[in-house]
Amino acid sequence: MSKLEDLRGLIDSRDARIGVIGLGYVGLPLVVELGQAGFSVIGFDVDATKVRTINAGRSYIGDVPSDQVASLREQGRLEATSDFTKLADVDVINICVPTPLRKTRDPDVSFIAAAVEEIRKHLHEGQLIILGSTTYPGTTHEFVIPMLEDAGLEIGKDFSLAFAPERIDPANTQFKVTQVPKVVGGETPLCTELASRVFATVFDTIVPVTSTQAAEMVKLLENTFRAINIGLANEIALMCEKLDLDVWEVIDAAATKPYGFMKFTPGPGLGGHCIPIDPAYLSWKMKSLNFPARFIELATEVNGGMPDHVVDRIAEMLNEDRLAVNGSEILILGIAYKSNVDDMRESPALDIIASLRQRGATIRYHDPFVAECEIAGESMKSVDLTDDALKKSDLVVVLTDHPGVDYERVVHVGPRVFDTRNATKAVVNDREKITRL
Ligand SMILES: NC(=O)c1ccc[n+]([C@@H]2O[C@H](COP(=O)([O-])OP(=O)(O)OC[C@H]3O[C@@H](n4cnc5c(N)ncnc54)[C@H](O)[C@@H]3O)[C@@H](O)[C@H]2O)c1
Repeated sequence: MSKLEDLRGLIDSRDARIGVIGLGYVGLPLVVELGQAGFSVIGFDVDATKVRTINAGRSYIGDVPSDQVASLREQGRLEATSDFTKLADVDVINICVPTPLRKTRDPDVSFIAAAVEEIRKHLHEGQLIILGSTTYPGTTHEFVIPMLEDAGLEIGKDFSLAFAPERIDPANTQFKVTQVPKVVGGETPLCTELASRVFATVFDTIVPVTSTQAAEMVKLLENTFRAINIGLANEIALMCEKLDLDVWEVIDAAATKPYGFMKFTPGPGLGGHCIPIDPAYLSWKMKSLNFPARFIELATEVNGGMPDHVVDRIAEMLNEDRLAVNGSEILILGIAYKSNVDDMRESPALDIIASLRQRGATIRYHDPFVAECEIAGESMKSVDLTDDALKKSDLVVVLTDHPGVDYERVVHVGPRVFDTRNATKAVVNDREKITRL
């Protein structure tokens, strides 16, 4: 039996040692799930603070309770490190590093390249490598394989390689990580089988596909589907504005149809590390094949225009009150990219605040999840939502519909409110003070 085939037994007995490279929103939950499934896990990260925090038994990701990290540490089943020579000690390696865009909106796969380069140095017979970072179709086959084959080992015979996209939805309490089916595509049938075997110890359902390219494309279809449908909801919101209709009423009524309709809502723009970025990976790849990804381009244009539209609406509302943006005090409610998270990556609040400031407005914000942040080179701190803070503002703008905010009080005590998320839908009194997207 080859060393690769031996891996089956090591996985089944939980004696396989597992490495996870990149301990962020995706990597840390995976580390904890694998540890809880009975494996010994080594987490690798270049961020020394994250490594120290995990080794001290604490979590820095909202969805991962610290006691789970502490318990795995106590059982000796979890170690975090920046020492990549320890990759030589593991049988299975999951790559969960970031895949951002360059300034030119081209894919930046340099984090994947750095991780794979470390793996190449320590690649040995019997290892299984699984790429989980979202990326364009062909990355595993065309980009990762040539790097790994430099090590002189043969894929499918000496080592295995698979792609398994991550579908985690931070702050989603309806579906646990393990309940979301795991899609797995290997370079060979044995690669698919081994990677599926690992994930079957954690996930309730495994969905094997026939290639790494198919698995990469599945993830891009899912996120492109969301980006396009959010784009449609945003364009419907712009149409409703012209038609003097309430887009929220229209969408809620349409969503009562029990089939053939899926609810998406408009907002101030896309945010997070996935939906604004992933479709650009697909359109970039298609451009190289001389195929224009028209739906993606259109959705990017509509969604990308929303922050400017919000700024224009704010200027209009101030104008109605005989105020200019220049010199106005605007209180922003919520700056994270979506409710219930502290993640500011690609948040539309970044562009909206920068633009309002450029036009001379004074901006303060309240966000129960983001105590401080830096926007366009300026440090900001969340202010308490006191009566005084509300009263001294010329306008309140809801950009993120975090729970736990007393919108009834905000509307009653504060000035007019521009609500881009329909966060004030349950407010009963003073509704004439609310303007919604
Ligand atoms: N955040 C999500 O909701 C989500 C959901 C599904 C898929 N994804 C995808 O998963 C991947 C990871 O996303 P994330 O949100 O966890 O990112 P993240 O920024 O939260 O975490 C990435 C981690 O990788 C580390 N890192 C960077 N380079 C490294 C290297 N060379 N070696 C070791 N560690 C390194 C960083 O320090 C960081 O801790 C991305 O491809 C993303 O598109 C993210």
